[in-house]
Amino acid sequence: MLTLHARLQEADKMQVLEFDTVIIGSGLAGLAASYNAANFGSVAIITKSQLDTSNSYYAQGGIAAAIDKTDSPELHLRDTMVTGRGLCDRDAVEILVNEGRERVLELIDLGMPFDKENGEFVLGLEGGHNKRRILHSGGDATGKELTCFQLELVKQKENIQAFEYVAALRLLQNENCIQGVQAYDFKSKKNIVFKAKAVILATGGLSRIFERSTNPHTATGDGVALAYAAGAQIADLEFIQFHPSALYVPGKNAYLISEAVRGEGAWILNHEGERFMKDIHPLAELAPRDVVAYSIFRQIQKSGKKNIFLSLKHLDEQQIKQRFKNIDSHLKEYGFDMTKDLLPISPAAHYMVGGVHTNLNAETNISGLFACGEVASTGVMGANRLASNSLLECLVFGKRASEKAATQKKPAGELILPEPVHVDTANEQLFLKYQNEMSVLMSENLGIVRNKTTLQKALDRCHEIETSFAPDANEYNLLKIRNTATLCKLIAQSALVREESRGGHIREDFQKENPDFKVHILQQKGCNYQFENVRD
Ligand code: SIN
Repeated sequence: MLTLHARLQEADKMQVLEFDTVIIGSGLAGLAASYNAANFGSVAIITKSQLDTSNSYYAQGGIAAAIDKTDSPELHLRDTMVTGRGLCDRDAVEILVNEGRERVLELIDLGMPFDKENGEFVLGLEGGHNKRRILHSGGDATGKELTCFQLELVKQKENIQAFEYVAALRLLQNENCIQGVQAYDFKSKKNIVFKAKAVILATGGLSRIFERSTNPHTATGDGVALAYAAGAQIADLEFIQFHPSALYVPGKNAYLISEAVRGEGAWILNHEGERFMKDIHPLAELAPRDVVAYSIFRQIQKSGKKNIFLSLKHLDEQQIKQRFKNIDSHLKEYGFDMTKDLLPISPAAHYMVGGVHTNLNAETNISGLFACGEVASTGVMGANRLASNSLLECLVFGKRASEKAATQKKPAGELILPEPVHVDTANEQLFLKYQNEMSVLMSENLGIVRNKTTLQKALDRCHEIETSFAPDANEYNLLKIRNTATLCKLIAQSALVREESRGGHIREDFQKENPDFKVHILQQKGCNYQFENVRD
């Protein structure tokens, strides 16, 4: 702990930089927002890791857009709304499917190399889509190709400055109006205060707070924690999407086997070798993700084992290995032949469906604070995200956020420098210990199926952890412990309030959908939770 004198000295050394817009996060939403924001003024893009480390980068499936002659934004809207189980806001989905198509066509015009065959785009199929409408690139490397393409566009803009290995710590504000961001630079080991007219959160999701997750280590919910601490409204956090087909190898990461593989015909088999999904949903293995993940969960529970299987043995080896080169080579590293072996799978936390509550222009309830991409709850995902809609959301609402941010006036009032934050490496082990404990707690009590007892257990323990660290801690690891505990609590609280089963939220003690809960659940620091009507 630094003495007061040392802290004041540190504050003196704080670097203060000024930009029109500061964007936190360098996934597709952050890159799209930066690229557009640069049309209006100076931009800082800050990331706690490298520019090319993001969840978007690892997206395998692709980006959904109604570009086929037999498809239309209306059909895309219908699939999105059905999959969202009554919780999608129609106006937001209309924007997503219409502007999404425009954004994708713009990227194609700029030269984005989506995969083609005989001059035509090859369109993939994923769960919940009644049409082939998933554009992909590099076969199963769409996220990498798309983020690298967008990053190149960003690098061409001279008024964008990138800050790598700089972690956002606190949002600075005066009377509900954003003034900037306090951040820690891991290279110089100094605090930086970024003054700005607008701050756009594009920090991605939080699935890494679960023990089994398909996400990179950076997906720890930083944006939600920052926004909540600043007084922003957080919506629908109970909806965590579990991806049905993550590789299950004990002691190894839950490697994602794209739903696009099932789109090309892969079967899900139980331990008796039965294709049980055929009896559960007309779309069988391509039913919406909540249905497939829950059905797999039940089969695993029934078998007493830890996994079931994905089988591609009946498919054309050459075609499959050509289309899914990355997955094939990863599976080889794990010792599996993609088309010859039964692949052990089990669901894993994949996507935060709720997030920082925004309006249609990606604005939060704090003036000058915006959110886009997975960190945001724009109303398009409902209770269950339609596969491959997320990269589309990044493009659409990244652009909208930057355009609205450009209209923001310079904040009134003097910016008061915050207390500096330091890193004490002695606390790293403590953070890992708590992170590990909470990830197990979340997976065991807030997994695919929940009930009042499991939710209360997770809530109580996270409350205990949260309150054992001072709210004004100025050490990075202690801040992270508190933030993780707060996020887990917010998920558990929202899940306790929603006394029904809907989409990705399944309650053993309330097994039916309840029309009274056709509402968004909002949480805000210092306030009771609120319900907001769905705009359908
Ligand atoms: C996948 O490739 O299965 C993931 C795509 C998505 O989450 O939208």
